[in-house]
Amino acid sequence: LTTVREIFKNKEAYLDKEVQVGGWVRSNRGSKAFGFVVLNDGTYFEPIQVVYHDTMDNFADISKCNVGAALIVRGTLVATPEAKQPFEIQAEEVTVEGPSAPDYPLQKKRHSFEYLRTIAHLRPRTNTFQAVFRVRSLIAYAIHQYFQERQFVYVHTPLITSSDCEGAGEMFQVTTLDLKNAPLTEDGAIDYSQDFFGKETNLTVSGQLNGETYAMAFRNIYTFGPTFRAENSNTTRHAAEFWMIEPEIAFADLDDDMDLAEGMLKHVIRYVLENAPEEMNFFNSFVDKGLLDRLNGVLNSEFGRVTYTDAVKILEENNHRFEYKVSWGCDLQTEHERFLTEEVFKRPVFVTDYPKEIKAFYMKLNEDGKTVAAMDCLVPGIGEIIGGSQREDNYDKLVARMEELGLKKEDYEFYLDLRRFGSTRHAGFGLGFERCVMYLTGMGNIRDVIPFPRTVKNCD
Ligand code: 4AD
Ligand code: MG
Repeated sequence: LTTVREIFKNKEAYLDKEVQVGGWVRSNRGSKAFGFVVLNDGTYFEPIQVVYHDTMDNFADISKCNVGAALIVRGTLVATPEAKQPFEIQAEEVTVEGPSAPDYPLQKKRHSFEYLRTIAHLRPRTNTFQAVFRVRSLIAYAIHQYFQERQFVYVHTPLITSSDCEGAGEMFQVTTLDLKNAPLTEDGAIDYSQDFFGKETNLTVSGQLNGETYAMAFRNIYTFGPTFRAENSNTTRHAAEFWMIEPEIAFADLDDDMDLAEGMLKHVIRYVLENAPEEMNFFNSFVDKGLLDRLNGVLNSEFGRVTYTDAVKILEENNHRFEYKVSWGCDLQTEHERFLTEEVFKRPVFVTDYPKEIKAFYMKLNEDGKTVAAMDCLVPGIGEIIGGSQREDNYDKLVARMEELGLKKEDYEFYLDLRRFGSTRHAGFGLGFERCVMYLTGMGNIRDVIPFPRTVKNCD
């Protein structure tokens, strides 16, 4: 079979020649003597038109084909200079591989994204989701390319762990115990020593702690894998299962970290604009009208950089606009993040040096003793897309911070070892992959950029 992509990209080579394609019917309108099928084969955003005639033995079967049917078509590619598309296939043979039942839910009209979520197994056959999921795949490739070209080592960190990297207590427990009849310890707690791993375990919220160990061996590494958070946040940008990219760089500080993040995002934008022009034009026309201008603007400017303290000053002056009022020490809400990036900076911006109280235990304490060397990258339309920091590389300071937070040293022996054996300044960040896909496609809901979304009360 030829692909429709190949035909579109090399039309001169195929014109007036025989081609054979396999695909699914997007529409089928027939008359007594001939009919037109619009066929999408999944390899290219545009479908291709097929003309068939009553000279074929199975003309009646083809005419009866509903939207969604799978066909293999053999015929000649002919030029159609007056039509919307410059060519079509004059079929010589059409094989109905699999008919489609009449209750096929995707008809030739616009369905709402909400409705399409209820048929997640069929929505990749629509224009929008075909574009989203091809771009998602290209973004993943571009991210690997960015790091691999820079000799970063791709590390696979475990999905089952016994640590809580972010310390937010938002973990999905992993257990083989029947919790209703679980063995108990003397003081009445569940006795996890009898569980599969001999202790309490959970799905990872981040690969960072393991990633750091490899950065202390390879210098530059990255992870790219699923992470899980039992956050009870029913928003358009939170999922319970999402993918994260976590580079970690040794002999590097927060500025190096931000440079890396900015370089990566720009590389990914450039790659997708170059490699998915049809999809990106579609998003720009039907999903988010300013998308291409915005992304091109990003390529031609530098990200903003502002400290948390300065950002809070700006936000405080605009407190009348916010549901949650801002003051120094508070965590920034989505409305504040979006205000900063959309209205103040009008481009992606790094907010740095947050109060230590609202950030994780591993971040490097600044000279002021109050803030940490953290950075969040905020982008228009979404807010936080990246969270990162320089890590506390001093053993005593890290232990002191862990004690303040009530973290047990025994649970972090391997992590503390890194500060005993050849410690050096190092930094890293986590890019939320789905948020990155939202940013590049203009899609407004995280449920629409992951094939089978897992969110609060939804695991279908
Ligand atoms: O800011 P976070 O929590 O940072 C970390 O996990 C660090 N360990 C990263 C590091 O320094 N190696 O998460 C990083 C990013 C966020 O900026 C956001 O884009 C995404 O992960 N994220 C989520 N995406 C979808 N659904 C959720 N529930 C998310 N929580 C975080
Ligand atoms: Mg964060």
